[in-house]
Amino acid sequence: MSWTNEQLAALVEPDRAHRKAYTDPEIFDLEMERIFENTWIYMGHESQVKKPGDYYLAQVGRQPMVMVRDSKGDIQVMYNRCPHRGAQLCTARKGNTGRHFYCSYHAWTFHLDGKLESMPAKREYDGTNLDFENPEFHMSRPPQVDNYRGFWFVNLSEGGADLLTHLGESTSAFDQLIDRAPGKETEIVGDCFRMVQQSNWKIFLENQLDASHPGVTHESTGKAAQQLEAKMRADGEEPPLELSFLTDFARLGHDGWTKFGTVGYRNGHSSLEGYMGLRPDDPDTNEYVRRMYEAYGEEKAEEILGTNIHHMLVYPCNSVQPPLQQLRTIRPLAHDKTLTEIWHFRLKDAPETIYRRSLAYYYLVNSPSTLINADDLFNWWKCQHGLTSSASEWVSFHRKAGHDEVRDGNTYSAPDSMSELPLRHMMHAWRDYMTADAGAGS
Ligand code: FES
Ligand SMILES: [Fe+2]
Repeated sequence: MSWTNEQLAALVEPDRAHRKAYTDPEIFDLEMERIFENTWIYMGHESQVKKPGDYYLAQVGRQPMVMVRDSKGDIQVMYNRCPHRGAQLCTARKGNTGRHFYCSYHAWTFHLDGKLESMPAKREYDGTNLDFENPEFHMSRPPQVDNYRGFWFVNLSEGGADLLTHLGESTSAFDQLIDRAPGKETEIVGDCFRMVQQSNWKIFLENQLDASHPGVTHESTGKAAQQLEAKMRADGEEPPLELSFLTDFARLGHDGWTKFGTVGYRNGHSSLEGYMGLRPDDPDTNEYVRRMYEAYGEEKAEEILGTNIHHMLVYPCNSVQPPLQQLRTIRPLAHDKTLTEIWHFRLKDAPETIYRRSLAYYYLVNSPSTLINADDLFNWWKCQHGLTSSASEWVSFHRKAGHDEVRDGNTYSAPDSMSELPLRHMMHAWRDYMTADAGAGS
C-alpha cells in the first residue's frame, strides 16, 4: 500500500503506537526519506580524522558518506562515490587515503576536498564536455554539513532548521562529553563496538530511555555479580568498584529506578537523568575532581560534574552517556535490521585511572560479549518477532501516560515513576517527521 499522511498519523496515538510502524518495509523506506535523509544525522567526531588523508566511512540514511581531513586541515564530508562510473572510492571503514582519493576502477584521482585531480590518458578527454572545474566531476557534497564542538553532522536535504536549532537542548550532552575533561578536549579512543541487531531502529532508541527494563531484563546479570561480590568478601577480598556497574542492575530495584526523571525536548530529543554512583569518594575520583577545580574553578567544575544526564537521546540517531564517556549512533539498515556503533571517549588530562574506570564500564556493560548486552539484544529480537504477529495491533506506552507535565516547551515525567514518557515523546516526534511537519516534536 502507499501510505497517506493521514494513515501514517493514525499509527501513533497519545499512549500507543501501531505495530506496522516497526514491521512494514514501505514505512522503513518513508522513514529513510522523511527522517534520515531529511534532518541532521551524526557522521562522526573530529578526532576520528586527525591527520590529512585520514577518512572515516558511515552510512547516512541510505547514502554512503566519507568524512576526511583535507590538506588544509579542514574536515570535509562527501558522498563516497566516484563521478566516473559510480564505484565507491573507499571500502575500508577507516584509514588514510594519502594525498588524494584514488579510484581503483579506472584510476581517476581526487584532491582531499573532492575536486577531480587527474586520470590516465587525460588528453583523451580533450574536446569533450568533461570539465575539471565542473562539480559534476567532483566527489559530490551533501546539501548541509556542520559540526557542534567537533561532533559532525550531515543533512541530506536543503532547508529546515540549522544544526544548532535542531539539536536544541540536546547540545548539553555534547558539552558534557567535552567539559568533563580537565584539559577541555575529548577524543575517541580506538575503534567502536559495532552490532547488527535483528530489530527495528525504534526498538533500540526506546530501550535507551526505558527505565522500567533494567531491573527486570538485567536482574539475573546483576544477581550473578552480587553473588561474586559476596564470595569475594567471604574470601577476605574487597570487590573492585567496577563490579558495582553490574550489581547496580539488581540493587536499584523498582524504587531506585524511579529516581531518574525523564524529559522530552523539541524535535524528538529526550533525556534520562541519574548518576549511577560514578562519583565515589576514593583517591582517584578526588584527584580527578581536584584537576577539574584547577581547570575551571570550584563553582564551574561543580556545575559541570553536577549535571544530571545518564542518557541523552539525540533524535533520531544518537544516544549519549556523558558520565560514562560514551556515544552510540544508529544506522538503520532495514525495517528489521539496525547497525549500532558505540564509541568511547578519553577526557584530556583526566587521571588514567578514571579513564580505565569508564573503559571498564564500556567493556562490562556495552561490549557485544557482555551479558547485559545479550539480555537486551535478545529482547529486541523477540519484540521484532512478536510484532509480526497479528495478535494485537498496538504497542503500549501507557506507563504514567496522562501525567506528563509540560513546562517551557519541554515535557517532564511525573516524579518518582518509571514513566514511558520518552517512548511516547519519540513516537509523537516520529509522527510529525513522517507527516512532513518536521521539527514540531511533541
Ligand atoms: S569508476 Fe572511478 S575511475 Fe572509473
Ligand atoms: Fe538494557
